[in-house]
Amino acid sequence: MTKEIEKVAQWIVNAKRVVVFAGAGLSTESGIPDFRSPGGVWDRYNPEDFYFQNFISNETSREKYWQMATEMYEPMKKAQPNLAHLAIAELERVGKLDCIITQNVDGLHHKAGNSEKKILELHGTAMHVTCLSCHKRYDRENIQERWRKGEKAPRCNDCGGLLKPATISFGQSMPETETEEAYERSSRCDLFIVIGSSLVVQPAASMPAVAKRHGAKLVIINRDPTACDEMADLVIHGQAGSVMANVLESVKAVLADRS
Ligand code: APR
Repeated sequence: MTKEIEKVAQWIVNAKRVVVFAGAGLSTESGIPDFRSPGGVWDRYNPEDFYFQNFISNETSREKYWQMATEMYEPMKKAQPNLAHLAIAELERVGKLDCIITQNVDGLHHKAGNSEKKILELHGTAMHVTCLSCHKRYDRENIQERWRKGEKAPRCNDCGGLLKPATISFGQSMPETETEEAYERSSRCDLFIVIGSSLVVQPAASMPAVAKRHGAKLVIINRDPTACDEMADLVIHGQAGSVMANVLESVKAVLADRS
């Protein structure tokens, strides 16, 4: 493991543009379950109940969606960044981060101190709610308060439209700006580091291949094998927190040697 960590650190120091690609595995050490591991979200809920078409089609589906979304939001609300989030924030501080392409909706990159402009939230965020008609934005906690008081499928105060957490559901169109930017950054980086993703959900999961196709080195840090391990230049099967903390320490040692 040490040899691999030193190699990743060397690659980070030598790279011009480092892109970090994050999945739910990055946040499990912050107490937020991932989706496809045993005991994960899709063990407890049926993904079909989350389909966007269901949400917009009937009130019962919306109430069910809000019930599940509320249960998923509670651990996120309390969660704190872990060693992996903090290491990525530190990479930005030492000038070694081009951007974070994240599938996570928990807002922990912001909490860890990464700057807004460096975070591309491909699957939206659970930290606020939007109206699907007039796009008015609401603070999540305010809507959760209304939900606790009995509004099981809240509506917009302005236009009466459907309110939904600002996350991207299956069947919902991806956020255009973030998606285009993520492809652009993937195609021009020289080091692409995947942390905590099974790499099975498209279009996000196609970005490691985009980076490889454009000549970048691909590193995958994940507890279990992923769908892209074969194309990677280096795979580390380990816990994101301790691996990234060690990588950061090694990066700092290399930078200190060079200064
Ligand atoms: N350290 C490293 N890897 C971890 C850790 C950890 N502490 N905890 C979990 N993992 C790994 C698991 O082994 C798993 O392969 O993280 C991966 C998480 O994979 P998924 O649960 O499939 O999550 P993700 O890839 O982010 O899912 C993509 O699917 O359901 C949708 O919209 C949802 O954004 C999500 C998308």
